[in-house]
Amino acid sequence: MGIVLGIESSCDETAAALVTTDRRIVAQRIASQDAEHAPYCGVVPEIAARAHAERLAPMIEAVLADAGIELSDLDAIAATAGPGLIGGVMVGLVSAKALAMASEVPLIAINHLEGHALSPRLADPALEFPYVLLLVSGGHCQILRVDGVGQYLRLATTIDDALGEAFDKTAKILGLGFPGGPAVERLALEGNAKAVPLPRPLVGSGEPHFSFAGLKSAVLRAKDSGKHADADIAASFQQAALDCVLDRLRIALDASDAPALVVAGGVAANKTIRAALEGLASERGMRFVAPPPALCTDNAAMIAWAGCERLGQSDPLDFVARPRWPLDPEAEPVRGAGYKA
Ligand code: KG4
Ligand code: ZN
Repeated sequence: MGIVLGIESSCDETAAALVTTDRRIVAQRIASQDAEHAPYCGVVPEIAARAHAERLAPMIEAVLADAGIELSDLDAIAATAGPGLIGGVMVGLVSAKALAMASEVPLIAINHLEGHALSPRLADPALEFPYVLLLVSGGHCQILRVDGVGQYLRLATTIDDALGEAFDKTAKILGLGFPGGPAVERLALEGNAKAVPLPRPLVGSGEPHFSFAGLKSAVLRAKDSGKHADADIAASFQQAALDCVLDRLRIALDASDAPALVVAGGVAANKTIRAALEGLASERGMRFVAPPPALCTDNAAMIAWAGCERLGQSDPLDFVARPRWPLDPEAEPVRGAGYKA
C-alpha cells in the first residue's frame, strides 16, 4: 500500500490531503477564499496566489501531523501543475518541488482536470475504464471518454462559457453573491422552472458542443424586464442549462461505447443535475457514478488520488507550471472557443 500527499492551489481553494492507494483519505485540510473574492464577484488571481502562499505550508504540516507521519514516509508528492491561475499553481508546485527535494520523495505533476476526471474512481472502487465523463466546473465544460489514466478522448467542449461560469453569472445578475452555483441551486428550489421562457443554445443541432453565452444574456434580459420573480429565473435557468447538458450528452453517448456515465467538477455538486443525469444513465442501461459533493468541488484528495493512480512516475524538479493543459491534446480547437482547454 502506498500513501501520497496531494496539493491543490489552481483556483480559489487551498488544499492538502493524504490518500492511500487503497482509497483511504487519511487526512485533509481545505481553505476556501470565498470571503476574499466575494467583493469582486469572481476570483482575483493576485489575491488567490497570496492566500495560497500564506496558507499552504501550515496545511501540509497539519495533514502530516493528523496522520502521524513524516515527509519521508510518503511514496509521492502530487501537486496540481496546471491548468489554472498561474500564480496559484506555482505556489503549490514550487512547494511540492521543495518538499520533494528535501525529502527525496518523487514529485508527480498532476493535471487538475485529470484530478477531477479520476475522482469518481476514488469514490467508487468498482468504476472501471472506459467511462463517459461530464466534466463541469467554473472553468471547464467538457464531455470526455476516459479510456485509462492519461487516455482521454474529448467528445465535446464549450464554444463560449463553462457551465459553472453560467451559474456564477446568473448568480451575479440575481445579486446572489459568489460562488454562485450553490446559491442558484438553493433559490431554484423555490421557483417554477417553466415560468421564464429561456433559450436552449445548440439543442437539436448535430454538432456535439456546448454554448451558454446566449442563455446568460437571456437571463439578464429576463431580470431587466422586471416581470419575473428571481426564484423563477433561477429555476428556469437551471432547467434550460440542464436541458442543454442532457441533449449534448445524448450525442456523446451515441458516439461512444462505454458502460458508465460519470459526472465530476464543481457543478456535479448540484442535486437537480445529478438526479437528471442518473435518469439519463438508467434510460440507457448505464451505470451512473457521481462522487460525493466534497470531492466534486476543488480539493486535494482528488490530486493525491491521481498521484496514487500514477504512482511510479517521477517528474523532474524543473517541471514548468502550465496555465493551459488540455486532457486531450489532439482535440481540434472549436469555433468560438476562447482560451478554454
Ligand atoms: O471544480 P470547481 O470547484 O472549480 C473549478 O475548477 O472551476 O468548480 C467551481 C464551479 C463554480 O462555477 C461553482 O459555481 C460551481 O462549480 N458549483 C455549482 C454548485 N456548486 C459549485 N454549480 C451549480 N450547482 C452547485 N451546487
Ligand atoms: Zn476544478
